[in-house]
Amino acid sequence: AACRRRWSRLPCAAEPAEPAIKSGFLAFPDSFVFGVATSAYQIEGASDSYGRKPSIWDDFAHRPGTTSNGATGDVACDHYHLFKEDVDLMSKVNIKAYRFSISWSRILDGSGRINEEGIQFYSDLIDSLLAAGIEPWVTLYHWDLPAALDWLGPKDSITSAFSTYARTCFNSFGDRVKRWITLNEPWCSAVLGYNTGDHAPGHTDSADSAPYIAGHHMLLAHAEAVRVFREDFAHQKGQIGISLNADWRQPMDGTSEARHAARRAMDFSLGWFAQPVFEGDYPECMKKACGERLPAFTPGESALLRGSADFFGLNCYSANFAKAAQQPPEGSGYWNDIGVEWWHTDPDWERSDMGWPIVPWSLREILLYIQKRYRPTGGIFITENGCACESDESADLDCRPDALTPMEAGDAWRQETDFVFEDPERVRFFRAHLSAVHAAISHGADVRGYFAWSFLDNFEWAEGYTKRFGIVRVDFPTQERTLKSSARFLAEVFKASGLEA
Ligand code: NOJ
Repeated sequence: AACRRRWSRLPCAAEPAEPAIKSGFLAFPDSFVFGVATSAYQIEGASDSYGRKPSIWDDFAHRPGTTSNGATGDVACDHYHLFKEDVDLMSKVNIKAYRFSISWSRILDGSGRINEEGIQFYSDLIDSLLAAGIEPWVTLYHWDLPAALDWLGPKDSITSAFSTYARTCFNSFGDRVKRWITLNEPWCSAVLGYNTGDHAPGHTDSADSAPYIAGHHMLLAHAEAVRVFREDFAHQKGQIGISLNADWRQPMDGTSEARHAARRAMDFSLGWFAQPVFEGDYPECMKKACGERLPAFTPGESALLRGSADFFGLNCYSANFAKAAQQPPEGSGYWNDIGVEWWHTDPDWERSDMGWPIVPWSLREILLYIQKRYRPTGGIFITENGCACESDESADLDCRPDALTPMEAGDAWRQETDFVFEDPERVRFFRAHLSAVHAAISHGADVRGYFAWSFLDNFEWAEGYTKRFGIVRVDFPTQERTLKSSARFLAEVFKASGLEA
């Protein structure tokens, strides 16, 4: 059946023009880092063995009603046991760098004791990657806080707990790991964890200030870890940064109200964390709207934060239009403080299985915005970009191939595996978004890397296993992995350092 999804959209006055270069081979610089990303709780499994202690996500997912079908990360992709096979698969996809996270509670048990089995696991993973010529990019915190801790504080104990954990990782792996990311998407941890309650620890009844306090402590924890890294581990000659998430906000029209709303929406998402990290303080509009509910940095904290990232990590998936809110949304707190209609899309925009609008040109826009607004000296790395499709519950089953297609003769992978799982939507997604990255570079954005989310279908947090983001299909009951056509597409892009578009 014909695919009913379309990639075109209604013409809209606010949309920027497409780039002049639209076809031919789009070459990326030789040094450009092409990789894939995952995170510990989403893929590892082995959640209560080999000395691992519970995290807030173990507790949350085991609470009834928190995730689709009651899914947990207990087994996930069983990567803990299958990591060697997974690294072999990465080699087939010509991956140059692999971004993964360390499970804090696999390394430290909260009493200061180091779990040697946990250290050994990551050490073996790192060695396998290096042996395969794949550069490890390590995220220290990808949402799985040890269950005994809370980002609400107390401030000194949570920040020093994080810096002790970071120090343990630098000590154990810094001889081989040269790229570190302190926190993944602190906006999600703060808002989804401490305001909407969709994510662990699931606070919904907190005071209006809860996400701001949690976010504040995350920023201070980040700054402290960076200080430790720069002061005590300079000899390792690594780089350290942070991965921030935001949807691009495009002004709804040419009015100054719409431009103002877009800027405000960016400040309340990206700026909330980027401005402290790159400039040492919160955006003015947040300080004004939140008053005392937004904690203030001391001069010492500000100085520690300013310049505390060697590069800008961006996780970006989607876009929305920005328009000033006509009337304040119900309730108070974060959503009220923004004063912008948060979800405002073009009804003709195609959507992924997550319901997120697919707007390739917006990636170019947000990269140019970051370049202009923050001028990160170590460049911008897209640490996540990808799309959920071909899920079992996809609304668009017409588009989902029911069968695996046999490989053609002469296919480079033929010797290795007989089938490829066809995911044409994801191929189109990557092609369009990589073209947008190329356009951003041509227009002056200093983008130095791109990590596809994700290597494997995995535990998609509150969505459980119902949403598939992988370039490798995982059959969860058998743990069988099948390369998808998007993996073949990326393998070609990564090898050629560019794509035909
Ligand atoms: C953001 C998160 O970092 C990752 O864990 C998640 O799976 C993807 N985006 C997709 O939602």
